[in-house]
Amino acid sequence: MRYPPHLLDEIRSRLPVSRVVERRVKLKRTGREYTGLSPFKTERTPSFTVNDQKGFYHCFASGEHGDIFTFVMKTEGLSFPEAIERLAAEAGVSLPPPVPADEVKASYEERLFSAMEEACRFFQSAFSSREGTGARDYLDRRGLRPADIQTFRLGYAPDSKTALKSHLNQQGFTLAEMQEAGLLIHGEDIAVPYDRFRGRLIFPIMDAKRRVIAFGGRALMEGQQPKYLNSPETPLFHKGHVLFNFAPAREAARAGKPVIVAEGYMDVIALTRAGFPGAVAPLGTALTTDQLRLLWAMVPIPTLCFDGDTAGQKAAHRALDLGMPYLEPGRSLQFVFLPEGRDPDDMVRGGESEALVKLATQPLALIDVLWAREQARHPLETPEQRASFEARLMELAGQIEHKNLKFHYISAIRERLRNSGMARRPPAGARQRTGSGGPRSGRPSFATVSARTGSLLSSKIVQATAPVTAARESLIVGAILSHPWLLDDFLEEIARLQFNDTDCRRLRDAILTVHQAEEHLDNEKLLEHLSRTGHATELERVQRATAQGAGAHFAPDASRELVLEGWHHVMMLHSKAGVPRSLQEAENDYLSEPTVENFSRLQAIVQQHEFAVS
Ligand code: UTP
Ligand code: MN
Repeated sequence: MRYPPHLLDEIRSRLPVSRVVERRVKLKRTGREYTGLSPFKTERTPSFTVNDQKGFYHCFASGEHGDIFTFVMKTEGLSFPEAIERLAAEAGVSLPPPVPADEVKASYEERLFSAMEEACRFFQSAFSSREGTGARDYLDRRGLRPADIQTFRLGYAPDSKTALKSHLNQQGFTLAEMQEAGLLIHGEDIAVPYDRFRGRLIFPIMDAKRRVIAFGGRALMEGQQPKYLNSPETPLFHKGHVLFNFAPAREAARAGKPVIVAEGYMDVIALTRAGFPGAVAPLGTALTTDQLRLLWAMVPIPTLCFDGDTAGQKAAHRALDLGMPYLEPGRSLQFVFLPEGRDPDDMVRGGESEALVKLATQPLALIDVLWAREQARHPLETPEQRASFEARLMELAGQIEHKNLKFHYISAIRERLRNSGMARRPPAGARQRTGSGGPRSGRPSFATVSARTGSLLSSKIVQATAPVTAARESLIVGAILSHPWLLDDFLEEIARLQFNDTDCRRLRDAILTVHQAEEHLDNEKLLEHLSRTGHATELERVQRATAQGAGAHFAPDASRELVLEGWHHVMMLHSKAGVPRSLQEAENDYLSEPTVENFSRLQAIVQQHEFAVS
């Protein structure tokens, strides 16, 4: 059984400590304090002090310290409830029947909620009054509409140390309640508590039931520090557990809207205006796991929106690392990076709402952000670096607690490593020969080339005849045999090639197997391997087909540039990229006699039709 704290305050405020103490100890006034002989220790010189303003006594001899309640408990041997009853009677305060502790707590919190609600209304009415002119002008300049101001219940805290305090006092709230609610600045060395929010624009922060639990106050003047002043931690407000605009966002999420996490209050308002009512923000700190849990309770994949600058990237990576262990099937994070140095508010205000909408609706998947980060962190020049890149990605995936999802992440990463040609080191020789080139060179990949000629892919003007197809396929395999470094640059395309010719298909598969197994694959090693594994006959046939014509693109001593030129063209032709009459003839000529002259003729026709490859 307990009495509510405001009742204790009431008794304290009516009974100065000196009056309670004086009945046992003779006190002498010295300045603000009283001194006397300690009731806790026999002494000759007074070391016992009483301070009415601070409401406590202190004994320097024994270290005893307390308020009126502890004083009567200690000196008269009373229990706490007995001390309360005694002093209440003395103060003329009538006690309600004692209530169970959790009810006290509940009603105490109710008091704080009411104080916050009352403060919010006070700030709102100050905003609309004459003293709110500056705040109104400020929001006007920032392009906010009256509707936004209403919806978000924005307000203004007058530039006064007592405006809110006296208002709440008139409404029957005690100083203790105001302090507990975080509305006053107070402390041991502050004689008179005063209003925390002064001369600031007020953003109320609501809980899931839309009850006001805290405020963020924005400076209105340049140089006023800090830019945003927030409520301290209170019984109602734990900033790491709260998101600004949570309740409306949850409602939007239920209606199928995306949930977008921005950095600040103004960004949430801007995103709402741009058509994203599911916008929320943490309160001036990095996202916490509690906040991630709130987000995941709203939607499976919340979108985290960051400034594209280094700080924004860092923040995104921090959130990613934080969330990684908690990923589950259908529970992830996705990311939006805004143009450098811009937040959603800047964009909406700058007339770039459309761009913002576009970005926000095309978020990056978590794995893409993870991949890009690790790739940027690790140079991938040496085998050791590649190995550490792979190890790091595996370690990150290993953090996922959900077993099945962890497994899928690991396979997805393996798959990517394979496709990016990074699973293994390319032959050192190939790299040295190339100088340029490699997966990150500016050279368009076959994929881009075929995408560019995409409309032609479906063209049925001419279908290549079987012998021509077989010859072309042999040429491709022959090129790989003579120049195995093509495997490093075009592994993905080679693995995907559709072959009609069985020999070519079998050879290609065998080549890929050798390539997987062997570290430094040169032409000789490759041939040796293939004949040893029973591919001698196919090899002979293919080599015969490619060896025709001196000076061909894929001759063993051809330069890298020449090989690449030939490769791109033969790949394009293989994809059946639109082949008009004369082009097909040129192709036939080239395939039956792959000379530089025939190639040039073919190239000229290709360029004429604007199918040029790079
Ligand atoms: P920003 O400094 O990015 O400000 O802080 P902002 O949101 O763009 O605000 P405007 O556009 O200048 O008005 C982002 C968030 O960090 C918290 C606030 O929650 C703010 O919305 N913050 C910032 C603080 O808590 N204290 C500060 O001093 C600054
Ligand atoms: Mn801003």
